[in-house]
Amino acid sequence: MFNNGWRKPSYVMSNYLDRIGAGWVLANPEVFNFDYVPEELVGREDIQNELASKFTTLHLPEGSGRVVITGPVGSGKTALAQTFCRDIQRHLNNKRNIRSVHVNCRNASTSMRVVQRILHELAPGHPDRGLSMGELLMSLRRILRKETSHLIVVLDEVDHMLRRSGDDLLYQLLRIDEDQSGKGTLSLILISQEQVLDVLETAVISRMGSTNHLRVKPYGIEGLAAIATQRAIQGLVPGTWTPEIIRILAEKAAITGDARRVIELLNAAVERCEFRQDAHTERRLIIDDIHVPLNKEPTTSGSNLEHIDDLNPNAMLVLLALCRRLTKEESMTTGDVEQLYAVVCEEYEQKMKSHTTVWKYLKDFEERQIISSRVATITGGRGRTTHLGMPHFLPKDLASRLEMLLKKKF
Ligand SMILES: Nc1ncnc2c1ncn2[C@@H]1O[C@H](COP(=O)(O)OP(=O)(O)OP(=O)(O)O)[C@@H](O)[C@H]1O
Ligand SMILES: [Mg+2]
Repeated sequence: MFNNGWRKPSYVMSNYLDRIGAGWVLANPEVFNFDYVPEELVGREDIQNELASKFTTLHLPEGSGRVVITGPVGSGKTALAQTFCRDIQRHLNNKRNIRSVHVNCRNASTSMRVVQRILHELAPGHPDRGLSMGELLMSLRRILRKETSHLIVVLDEVDHMLRRSGDDLLYQLLRIDEDQSGKGTLSLILISQEQVLDVLETAVISRMGSTNHLRVKPYGIEGLAAIATQRAIQGLVPGTWTPEIIRILAEKAAITGDARRVIELLNAAVERCEFRQDAHTERRLIIDDIHVPLNKEPTTSGSNLEHIDDLNPNAMLVLLALCRRLTKEESMTTGDVEQLYAVVCEEYEQKMKSHTTVWKYLKDFEERQIISSRVATITGGRGRTTHLGMPHFLPKDLASRLEMLLKKKF
């Protein structure tokens, strides 16, 4: 009685969903999952070697290791520990039975919950209700001894547990072998962001051995670009992205040094690109795709357009020249700027400022984070060129605002 016999033609129903699953740009969506662990970490050989050096005796029956890993958000601490545990198990395949448990203490923030999680991983049916901490630890000891396996316990975001329950569990875990002849049943890797170092420092680092403290550095532009490139190779259809696009994403994420962010930015750009596809569009990421603002855009001085309102009118003309080119291209050279600046001056009937003044304006734009610059050596030649980009603004929007402001000035 409600549909009056009218049936929606199927093409109407599916039209707007056509792009779902089309996969014009995106080949492997799982590469962008938050819990995806890449087969290899890129650019972290030093810290991987350092970590491995703390476990040089792990192939021996009594060998074990202990490490504290600290570093800023998104610096790859979790990925470092996860890949290490996976790789060491493969590496020692025939020599020693290694198991690992990764507990995130944000979700299991008391020592009781942590031990329950460990046991749950090792023996899924193990009862935990009503058992005391001593009983749980005894079970753990028994399981490890029975299986003659070595267990690597990773306590990620361990500060959560330390704050709630103190460091007692750490001592217990480190001493788990004390009552038995065989030693080396358990290794411990603690992970924490460095901002919470104080909680760790006094209580734990000395106990774990200060030489066992690994500090992971934030990623710079190169590191972020390498990570995004790896995801693009693994996740996108070949030919749909360029190193220049990746570079801009890395520049955008460099404010935070957070690898997660560059991956999110790439993912957002891919989504946008995927959804504007039709039979006629070019199947590749373009500059408009990568300027999609994320909800979690960090609040830097650069992110709102009014930021440029106090520029002097001549600087605005230079910036307008930049914006017009960057609307179409990912980056431009200082030589391009001068050429286009000449065109803009003609349009506004203004005299061009000197080369040095233009250069000063560019420096000023960079300091205000309106543009970013990168020096590149010309392939095959000896010269170096400066490439300018605009990672924090949509050049089109900035150009409109400048045109509006310039109307009032000249
Ligand atoms: N060197 C790398 N190579 C490839 N992918 C990486 C690398 N470093 C980090 N990643 C990826 O970046 C994302 C963030 O890394 P991870 O979760 O390890 O950071 P974290 O330091 O543990 O951050 P948090 O402090 O928020 O816990 C993950 O998806 C991870 O796979
Ligand atoms: Mg982490």
